[in-house]
Amino acid sequence: MTNSDLTLVLGGTGKTGRRVAARLRALGRPVRIGSRAADPPFDWDDPATWAAPLAGVGAAYVTYQPDLAFPGAAETVGAFARLAASAGVRRLVLLSGRGEDGALAAERAVAAAGIEWAVVRSAFFMQNFTEDFLADAVAEGMVALPAGTVAEPFVDAEDVADVAVAALTGRVPLGRVYEVTGPRALTFAEAADVVTAAGRAVEYVPVTVDGFVAGAVGAGVPAEVAAPLGQLFATVLDGRNAEPAGGVAEALGRPPRDFAAFAATAWGTR
Ligand SMILES: NC(=O)c1ccc[n+]([C@@H]2O[C@H](COP(=O)([O-])OP(=O)(O)OC[C@H]3O[C@@H](n4cnc5c(N)ncnc54)[C@H](OP(=O)(O)O)[C@@H]3O)[C@@H](O)[C@H]2O)c1
Repeated sequence: MTNSDLTLVLGGTGKTGRRVAARLRALGRPVRIGSRAADPPFDWDDPATWAAPLAGVGAAYVTYQPDLAFPGAAETVGAFARLAASAGVRRLVLLSGRGEDGALAAERAVAAAGIEWAVVRSAFFMQNFTEDFLADAVAEGMVALPAGTVAEPFVDAEDVADVAVAALTGRVPLGRVYEVTGPRALTFAEAADVVTAAGRAVEYVPVTVDGFVAGAVGAGVPAEVAAPLGQLFATVLDGRNAEPAGGVAEALGRPPRDFAAFAATAWGTR
């Protein structure tokens, strides 16, 4: 085992990162978690923390916080990618989001770093309903989002991680984007029906962007985070991302997991 087998997994305790780290470890590959709580710590907001976690790293999985749609994200990701290249990292795999200009700019910045790259450009994670900002709402039986009747091809973070690991380990062609979604688009009302049928009664309530931001602030989200988050949802949930894409099958040779299967596992009684 040489240092160059070492993979840095940024956000390695998060929704896709911890799944990526687990898969790499199962393959016998050494992993270093990059996060504020890791040792050494990695903080996107403090570039002085970036060099130490990059030492001896061969490949890095790059998940940006809080979101590539936030102002300055592409510049920050580009600076990180250039530092990684100069530190001897040979391959970067960026987690990106569909239909968002800031994410596209970050993808271009990674591709321009002069080393091997791949982009996993993802739909809305199914795990947002179980592990993130919608989990409490689901538990309380009401999900309020500024998504109207727009459909979204929710993707399982397990599939995102499978594609990311295939790219990190060079098992799929690099230098390209894998656009990963689930197999079908569901409106949030339809998704709520699937969750309800699986065993957790939940209702979807469409709200305006302003209503969403006010609700988030009321729930304790800082206004400077809630406002761009509202704008992000207004952008990516306007119908532009409704069409499923083939990245999971292209990378893995199998179809992506369906939301109903995810819901049965998450909320089913057996
Ligand atoms: N959620 C989706 O549906 C979705 C879809 C497409 C693309 N994306 C992209 O996924 C990326 C990650 O979003 P996510 O929602 O999935 O988050 P997540 O992975 O659940 O984020 C949590 C992880 O990030 C780390 N982290 C938080 N703040 C950090 C900071 N300032 N510096 C370094 N690490 C930090 C956390 O560890 P510590 O607390 O220890 O720092 C933890 O490991 C975003 O760039 C977004 O564009 C998300």
